[in-house]
Amino acid sequence: MAEVIIVKDEDEAGELYASCVADLIRSKPDAVLGLATGSSPLAAYRHLARRVAQDGIDVSKVRGFALDEYAGLDPRHPQSYRSTITRTVVEPVGLNPDLVHVPDGNLKTIAGAGRAYDATIEAAGGVDLQILGIGTDGHIGFNEPGSSLASGTRIKTLAEQTRIDNARFFDGDIERVPTHCITQGIGTILKARHLVLLAFGAGKAEAIEETCEGGISAFCPASALQLHPHATVIVDEAAASRLRHKDYYKYAFAHKPAWQGI
Ligand code: GLP
Repeated sequence: MAEVIIVKDEDEAGELYASCVADLIRSKPDAVLGLATGSSPLAAYRHLARRVAQDGIDVSKVRGFALDEYAGLDPRHPQSYRSTITRTVVEPVGLNPDLVHVPDGNLKTIAGAGRAYDATIEAAGGVDLQILGIGTDGHIGFNEPGSSLASGTRIKTLAEQTRIDNARFFDGDIERVPTHCITQGIGTILKARHLVLLAFGAGKAEAIEETCEGGISAFCPASALQLHPHATVIVDEAAASRLRHKDYYKYAFAHKPAWQGI
C-alpha cells in the first residue's frame, strides 16, 4: 500500500518532491528521473529548480525519461510532451536535454518505439524516482482504464474523457487533441524504484479513493501503485476528501522519523 501524505497545497507537495530529488542527486549524480506532464507536477518542478539553484546542485549528469507522448503530433508542437517537458522541467532545472528521453510518437516508427523505449530505460539502469499525476479516470501516463497492469510502453487510444480534459491545451477544441498516444506501460512504471504520485483538487478525489483504498484493478490503472514497494501519494485535503483512513495517514506522517524522507 502506498504511503499517503496529505499536504496543505501544491507548494508543500513540491517541497517534499524537491527535497527527495535533491537527496537522490547528491547520492547519485547521474540519477534517472521519470518525468510527467500535466498541471499536477508543475509546482514540484518549480521547487526543484529553486532548490537546484539555491544549493548549487550539479544536475549535468542527471538523466530523464518522460512517461508519454501524443501520437502523430510534431515534437516541435508547443503541446507535444517533448515541448512540455522541455519547457516545464528541462530548462528551468537546467537538465542536459540530450540526456532526457521522450517516447517517439512518430506514426512511421511508432510500432517498434515502445519496445525500444523500454530497452533504453533498462540500459540506463532503470528509473530511480518517477513523478506521476493522475487522470480523473484513474489513468497514469496515458494508461487508460482497462490497461494491462503488466503492460510495457506501447501505443494506446486515448479515452474521450482524457481528450475532453486535455482540450484546454488545444484552444478548447477536442478535435485537435490527438486520438492516440505512446505511453510507458503500467509494468514499465512499476519498475521504477520510487513512485511519487501528486493529485490536487476535488476533481481527483474519486480517482484517489479508488487508487488508494479500492481494489487493484486495470479499471483504475493507478491502483497498481498498491503493488509497489515504495509508492508515495501526495494529495491536498480536497483530493483526500473521500479517503476513509485519512486520520491514520496524517498520524503516520506526523510520527514519521525525518531521516526516512518520503
Ligand atoms: C495527462 C497526462 C498524465 C497526467 C494527466 C493529469 O493525461 N498524460 O500524465 O497525469 O494528464 O493531468 P493534470 O495533472 O493536469 O490533471
